[in-house]
Amino acid sequence: MRLRRYLPRSLFARALLILLLPVLLLQGVVAAMFIRRHYEGVTEQMASSVARELAYAISVVETEAGEEAAARLALLSRPLGIAFRLEPGGGVAPDATRRFFDVTGGVVAETFRREIRRPMALDLVSSDRLVEARIQTDVGVLVAEVDRRRMIATNPHQLLVVMGIAAMALVTVAVLFLRNQVRPIRELAAAADAFGKGWSLRFTPRGAEEVRRAGAAFLAMRARIERQIESRTLMLSGVSHDLRTPLTRMKLALEMMEPSPERDELAEDVRAMERMIDEFLAFARGEAGEAAEETDPAEVAGEAVDAARRGGAVVALRLEGAPAATPMRRGAVRRALQNLLSNAAAHGRTVELTLSEGRAWVDYVVEDDGPGIPPDLRETALKPFARLDGARNQDKGAGVGLGLAIAADVARAHGGALTLESGERLGGLRVRLRLPR
Ligand SMILES: Nc1ncnc2c1ncn2[C@@H]1O[C@H](COP(=O)(O)OP(=O)(O)OP(=O)(O)O)[C@@H](O)[C@H]1O
Ligand SMILES: [Mg+2]
Repeated sequence: MRLRRYLPRSLFARALLILLLPVLLLQGVVAAMFIRRHYEGVTEQMASSVARELAYAISVVETEAGEEAAARLALLSRPLGIAFRLEPGGGVAPDATRRFFDVTGGVVAETFRREIRRPMALDLVSSDRLVEARIQTDVGVLVAEVDRRRMIATNPHQLLVVMGIAAMALVTVAVLFLRNQVRPIRELAAAADAFGKGWSLRFTPRGAEEVRRAGAAFLAMRARIERQIESRTLMLSGVSHDLRTPLTRMKLALEMMEPSPERDELAEDVRAMERMIDEFLAFARGEAGEAAEETDPAEVAGEAVDAARRGGAVVALRLEGAPAATPMRRGAVRRALQNLLSNAAAHGRTVELTLSEGRAWVDYVVEDDGPGIPPDLRETALKPFARLDGARNQDKGAGVGLGLAIAADVARAHGGALTLESGERLGGLRVRLRLPR
């Protein structure tokens, strides 16, 4: 559809258009028709009275002869306000010239022809003020110059002014009314948008019935999702917490056992389980408690890098520009970045965290010079408890497989996304954590 490109995009403007276009169009058509009719009617009346005066002049010319007639005509000129001239013996080619938009000129010609019934030529073009009529009489051509204003109605302004004022009042009322109707929809969109990014805006359904229903449905949905998240987190942390007691008992029992390779293996497994549970608990607690607030993205990046360096990694931090404050759950983002950095440090020797910003987002990009992840395994790597390669990095101890999943979860909770790519600068894996703002 070509038309769509020229239509306004906002609901407000569209509704206004739908409301006003037909009304204004109708008003215009009616006004045009009315003005035309009015013009024609008045012009016809005025023209026919002038035509009768001309007819009178003709009868005077035809009853008197020669000099006498000219003298009588001169006498008539003054009271009638018409300049007469007699051209004895000439002939007239019937004709009427007018400009095509001169509607009333046509009416004048029509009326003259009907009232006078003689061959005549009308000139409505040569002068703006005068109409020249050349009429065939028995004694020659009678030339009459009549002031246009005597025949043609002017002054349609009043009507136009009234209509303009009415149209303006109409537009004002429509704008006020529509603005109130559109505002609740905007509020609903803002609340839904914010919820997608992980924050709960205050929102009360208002406005027209349908809009209010949509708002109420959104609120119910939001409450349901919040309850669901809450119960999921509660359950996870509950389970993790309860697992701790038996684990502690197992550790104690292991201490009592005779030293043997089997005992060491078991002890290693128990430690792995403990790590897993710790990670889980940290994640569950963090997600449940934290609220989003305006945060300096560079500061969070700095904290994550510091933590990674304390853990022994060599990490470079690159800031591209100075990103403006962005709403985020600071702790969750830091944890996600730490996970990404520890992954990178485990797989590569050089690690880089780059912070950049776009129009509507900030990007944290973690890149390393390790082996990377082949494209077909990337989706799997993001799943919880997915470990791709026990073999590649045994020396670093078995991971739980939650690091990427947690980072992806954090990104999603902010309305952003976590993507795995091939690094161009260092050649290993490049992980992009994108947060909207
Ligand atoms: N930078 C990387 N380079 C190459 N492979 C990676 C990289 N980061 C993650 N992976 C692969 O993706 C898998 C999943 O990573 P994830 O961080 O989710 O788990 P993990 O590191 O094994 O365990 P955890 O982080 O929970 O201790 C890893 O097992 C690893 O094989
Ligand atoms: Mg990891």
